[in-house]
Amino acid sequence: MSFNNLDSLYRQVIMDHYKKPRNKGVLDNSDLTIDMNNPTCGDRIRLTMNLEGDKVSDVKFEGEGCSISMASASMMTQLIKGKDVETALKLSHIFSEMIQGNDYEDNLDLGDIEALQGVSQFPARIKCATLAWKAMEKGIHQHEE
Ligand code: FES
Repeated sequence: MSFNNLDSLYRQVIMDHYKKPRNKGVLDNSDLTIDMNNPTCGDRIRLTMNLEGDKVSDVKFEGEGCSISMASASMMTQLIKGKDVETALKLSHIFSEMIQGNDYEDNLDLGDIEALQGVSQFPARIKCATLAWKAMEKGIHQHEE
């Protein structure tokens, strides 16, 4: 596939998540509620998560932000739901490397998040892409304390 076709495929995946977000909303009686904003624009996300043992049994997000931040939140919730906490943190690390344009491990199923790898060419948007992931990491660390 040529670079341009791949680019337009990735764009479609991003717009699909933005227009039809997965796991949008707020969980009733969630174990964890994390509010986070992107200081550069003020956009915000609220992430609610339930953990059962070491597993993310459910997760939802809501918020206001650009297409990159909201699509990334949708992809992140889709990817980590049902995974154990260690895998969720590993995926977050992989995503962080990818989004900075660094080499990353690809021995885990990365779902749709690879569609965001082009963001690495736009450093100002990296905070948009990582907003939901930082919220997820913060929630897990809060739970571990
Ligand atoms: Fe605000 Fe992207 S411009 S999160």
